[in-house]
Amino acid sequence: MLITSQIIDFITISLIIFAVFMLWIFWSDVLGAGFEPTSRKIVKNMLEMARVEAGDVVYDLGSGDGRIVIEAARSFNAGAVGIEADPLRFLWSKAKVLLLGLQNQVDIRWGNFFREDISEATVVTLFLSRKANQNLKRKLKVELQPGTRVVTYYWKFNGWKPVQEDLKNHIYLYVVGQTTREYHLKGENTF
Ligand SMILES: C[S@@+](CC[C@H](N)C(=O)[O-])C[C@H]1O[C@@H](n2cnc3c(N)ncnc32)[C@H](O)[C@@H]1O
Repeated sequence: MLITSQIIDFITISLIIFAVFMLWIFWSDVLGAGFEPTSRKIVKNMLEMARVEAGDVVYDLGSGDGRIVIEAARSFNAGAVGIEADPLRFLWSKAKVLLLGLQNQVDIRWGNFFREDISEATVVTLFLSRKANQNLKRKLKVELQPGTRVVTYYWKFNGWKPVQEDLKNHIYLYVVGQTTREYHLKGENTF
């Protein structure tokens, strides 16, 4: 009898741990996108395509382990802000920033990027999902200043034309309020 109740307790606790683990894995999917870090090479290509330089403020929406904001600060000498909803990834990336001594250059915020003010960004980086990009369009349009570069990995924005694209690596660059003609001297609006 005692053994049976111990087995039931064990199964119950295991199921609760499993449920919490699954919730942790999938809840960022519900918010915008699950966690999948961008490779170092793609991070570099994204920041180069956006022509990041000293004086820029790079916002990574859904900053994961902080690799994009850290690279923007270390290799491109930019200021950077990462916004991450997951508490463990937030803490991990915050610790990395502190260990690297980049706290004056990189700010990691714990929160939902849909609710954060991003108007000071001069560059926005994204690796999210088709749906999250779609849901972000209005916010980007309303909050970003003309000339702000938005570089997205893998997912484009439906209805917006990139000013530059790297089809091999799936990297797309958009510039607020600038036409492709203005960017490259050939036609059509971006957003
Ligand atoms: C595909 S990962 C990309 C991580 C990082 N930007 C990179 O390129 O390596 C997407 C990240 O966005 C976070 N995320 C998804 N929706 C979010 C939201 N609404 N607010 C803040 N973070 C979010 C997830 O937790 C996950 O860490």
